[in-house]
Amino acid sequence: GKDKELIRGSWESLGKNKVPHGVIMFSRLFELDPALLSLFNYNTNCGSTQDCLSSPEFLDHVTKVMLVIDAAVNHLDDLHSLEDFLLNLGRKHQAVGVTTQSFAVVGESLLYMLQCSLGQAYTAALSQAWLNMYSIVVAAMSRGWAK
Ligand code: HEM
Repeated sequence: GKDKELIRGSWESLGKNKVPHGVIMFSRLFELDPALLSLFNYNTNCGSTQDCLSSPEFLDHVTKVMLVIDAAVNHLDDLHSLEDFLLNLGRKHQAVGVTTQSFAVVGESLLYMLQCSLGQAYTAALSQAWLNMYSIVVAAMSRGWAK
């Protein structure tokens, strides 16, 4: 329906430039919750957003996140087919110290990135459509925390 059209239409251009858009999203995330920086313990510790952004491993993670979003957008008609993948992804995030509460701030950062990138095309209906899809992704990932 309308939600899917809004999501696909807006992702068409953003998805072609994953890293820059992912960087906007994660810069916002660290602004909203700087404590999350410490969860990225690569060779060089991410002491600041700048440290993080200059770490190739961190930029790889940005790409990984964007590819999961890309997969969700490409599976809007059968999101449940990603359930097992997302549950396992949740498990991996539990293992690195992420809590499910952080996903709300990640969602806020995703919307912030969309707003920055889409300008006038960012509407209430569009943000709601994205939030609906993101909620499904997060719900599936969150099952990775259950026993
Ligand atoms: C892996 C942190 C959110 C997708 C990882 C790793 C860390 C991490 C430390 C392991 C090292 C690495 O692969 O770089 C975080 C933090 C997040 C977050 C702190 C936010 C609070 C997300 C989100 C997604 C995602 C929202 C996608 C929707 C991935 C993927 C991997 C990964 C695909 C690789 C898993 C694998 O190796 O199979 N994350 N992450 N992450 N993350 Fe995240």
